[in-house]
Amino acid sequence: MSEVKEAIKAKDNINETTAMAHETTLLNPRFYTTNFKEMDGLNVDSVRADWDELIAEMRSDPNRTHFKKTEDWDKVDFEALEPGLRKELVDFLVSSLTAEFSGCVLYKEMKRRGTNQEICELFGLMSRDEARHAGFINDALREAGIGVNLGFLTRKKNYTYFTPKFIYYATYLSEKIGYARYITIYRHLEKHPDKRFHPIFKWFEKWCNDEFRHGEAFALIMKSDPKFTKGLNVYWIKFFLVAVFATMCIRDRARPAFHKALDVDIDWYDDKVLRITSEISRQVFPIEIDLDHPRWKAGLAKLIKAFNNIEEAKRRGGIFGRLRYFVAATRAFTVFAGLYFIPSKKNSVPDNCRLQPSY
Ligand SMILES: [Fe+2]
Ligand SMILES: [Fe+2]
Repeated sequence: MSEVKEAIKAKDNINETTAMAHETTLLNPRFYTTNFKEMDGLNVDSVRADWDELIAEMRSDPNRTHFKKTEDWDKVDFEALEPGLRKELVDFLVSSLTAEFSGCVLYKEMKRRGTNQEICELFGLMSRDEARHAGFINDALREAGIGVNLGFLTRKKNYTYFTPKFIYYATYLSEKIGYARYITIYRHLEKHPDKRFHPIFKWFEKWCNDEFRHGEAFALIMKSDPKFTKGLNVYWIKFFLVAVFATMCIRDRARPAFHKALDVDIDWYDDKVLRITSEISRQVFPIEIDLDHPRWKAGLAKLIKAFNNIEEAKRRGGIFGRLRYFVAATRAFTVFAGLYFIPSKKNSVPDNCRLQPSY
């Protein structure tokens, strides 16, 4: 654990999981803030019919009663789990909770600060969903006596500023990749129920439909004004695609025991999730990553290795550690640039972009 995290734990009298969620690193889920005034100026008239249909669906609140523990919630004995698996399960839950709560905080803030009724309603509905998601995961952590202090996070976690269009690209992708991750785990466990070592996975199917709808909302926002997806912005879209995809792969590699317990091959899983996300994103992005390009997989493997070396150098510390850190970080940057410059594939974006969850 980092010294900074230890110091914060002691100073603020918070538990380990709250400190984990509070820590800001390159790969951890972040909290965001943006130019809410600019966001308030969105106009969705050009996608009116699709917008109204989506908002009506979200108002009807299909998951109103879903996030409650029922008799399907089997008792989990955290202490009985093998220590490596327990650590990675906690890491998975805390990281998912931070990502869900990050959405909740950002969406709620937009609702609070905006004056554009339609946009405020959307953000209110999304923050309602994310609050439930975060709360449900926190219940699971509380069961093990390690709940995260969400009030503390709201007050003390660092906020990263993104301009509204970066919020649209990043949040659209994280909603859709979130959908793809949850549904892939859910479908896998449908076939292998004996590998379901925690009941929370049973909730993933309906849960990920919320994420799918949130992604649809951002697709419509981007569709509402052609400037978001053309010209120089296409280079930004590519940057976010590579960054979001690579971050997921690096983070998943850090949880070998978790994936082994689920009997999920990480290569298979990440490939499947990226393909689903890529396929969905054709609804709005004019380009997609060429996942079959020979340099893509090789580059990802090199990036994962560079990040492992960064972690190793951090652990080592001292002058040699710093030197190694510098070498590994430079390597990671170069490999990332290599991934970025792999030619992307062009998409012709359909006029009607609405999709339904079908995986
Ligand atoms: Fe969520
Ligand atoms: Fe979401």
